[in-house]
Amino acid sequence: MRIIFIDTVHPMLKSELENLGHECIEAYDKSKNQLINIVSNFEGIVIRSRFKIDASFLEKCDQLKFIARAGSGMENIDLKSCQKKGIHCFNAPEGNRQSVAEHALAMLLNLFNNINKSDHEVRQGLWEREANRGIEISGKTVGIIGYGNNGSAFAQALSGLGVRILAYDKYRTNYGNSKVIESNMKQIYDKCDIVSLHVPLTKETTYMINKSFIKSFNRPFFLINTARGKCVDTKALNIAIESGKILGACLDVHEYEKLSFEDTKQHNEFQKLINFENVVLTPHVAGWTNESHLKIAEVLYSKIKSVI
Ligand code: 3PG
Repeated sequence: MRIIFIDTVHPMLKSELENLGHECIEAYDKSKNQLINIVSNFEGIVIRSRFKIDASFLEKCDQLKFIARAGSGMENIDLKSCQKKGIHCFNAPEGNRQSVAEHALAMLLNLFNNINKSDHEVRQGLWEREANRGIEISGKTVGIIGYGNNGSAFAQALSGLGVRILAYDKYRTNYGNSKVIESNMKQIYDKCDIVSLHVPLTKETTYMINKSFIKSFNRPFFLINTARGKCVDTKALNIAIESGKILGACLDVHEYEKLSFEDTKQHNEFQKLINFENVVLTPHVAGWTNESHLKIAEVLYSKIKSVI
């Protein structure tokens, strides 16, 4: 097969596919128009989040057998059109779920223990102990929304910290176990102190954390988002932080990220958000560890090899 790499992936994927006799072409700098002109020559495409594969692009893919997405989110691929054309679409959430889980936990521990804030203060010569008294995770109830690869890895990362874990997944049943209570949204609204999102970006999940979602909680809570920025309405979040209904937020993803996740557009609501001390922010790196870089390539390699 001829396989075109549109985005960078750990080099293991290319070298192992070449070992199987496939021809791999790197085309990181080509524009979409340039790619449209050559894509009919390829049976495989490797992409990440940056490149959008829509119906008009797929029309040019005469020989395409698979698209490998080096990462979890598939919102940049028109999956329905791929299905109609018999194109296999692979992603690799198994490769970065541990990374996402550890990052979500790290952000929460950071927020609860004022790490960013007090680190900054100590460097400024300030020694504030009472103002930096922390909160323990132990004893809290954590609600996990979306119990797939990432949600279940987060539950696993939390186990051992003395928390009660409630998980809701609209598309799964019978996933509860000794550590995780399978729940509905009402139970999440009623009982949780901390809520963490682990859903893909779809029409249903776009702005799912909005004014009415926040209002449904019968107590103030902390929010973690390592899923997609557009799952959260930042304006509603800002209002809830101001009013105290949201006690703090850990956000690795942001509503105003560009498609490539490489940059954040300036926006008034984002400016407001970054001024809250009880918000911890990272630049969409929850799934990016040295280990996940390799694991993503390994997962894709085994999926491509077993199906194609
Ligand atoms: C993912 O979906 O795996 C992450 O959001 C990161 O995607 P990226 O590495 O393609 O930007």
